[in-house]
Amino acid sequence: MENYAKHYSQKGTGIWVIDFADEHPSAEVLGVDLAPIQPEFVPPNCKFEIDDIDEDFTYRRPFEFIHCPYMAYIVKDWPRLISQAYQHTAPGGFFEFTDFDLVIRSDDGSLDNTTMKAWTETMPQARRMLGREPCLGPKLEQWIRDAGFTIIVIK
Ligand SMILES: C[S@@+](CC[C@H](N)C(=O)[O-])C[C@H]1O[C@@H](n2cnc3c(N)ncnc32)[C@H](O)[C@@H]1O
Repeated sequence: MENYAKHYSQKGTGIWVIDFADEHPSAEVLGVDLAPIQPEFVPPNCKFEIDDIDEDFTYRRPFEFIHCPYMAYIVKDWPRLISQAYQHTAPGGFFEFTDFDLVIRSDDGSLDNTTMKAWTETMPQARRMLGREPCLGPKLEQWIRDAGFTIIVIK
């Protein structure tokens, strides 16, 4: 849990992109975000661009690796995003998600009749009313398959 908290607390700061560029000095690494909150002092093989991933991708070269973590709630149209990612992934390349399913479950019934359980049922409904899918977990595999990816690993 400590690692998860640390990882999650860094979301949107560009730290993953910077670390990846440091670890792979021969790679050209691009980070995109709607908000320009990332640091200016970055490795020479790393850059950030303001971009809206809900819009058409305009990248001219395919990527060998696309990483799209923690974007539940945010992306408007997941099948479209995954399809665009497929079209912009080089042959033999990878596309990786890390995301969550908002529904919290317990196998011993200890969540029954709790506020947490009520929250976990109503919050996804509220997000869907706003046009955002909060429970990606059960849906990703089919969307990824539909986009054309053939070797799929789920953890
Ligand atoms: C929960 S954070 C995840 C950030 C990032 N994937 C990471 O792992 O650091 C959500 C980020 O998505 C950005 N964002 C929201 N809508 C976006 C969009 N349509 N296109 C690109 N970035 C967007 C926000 O500005 C925010 O920095």
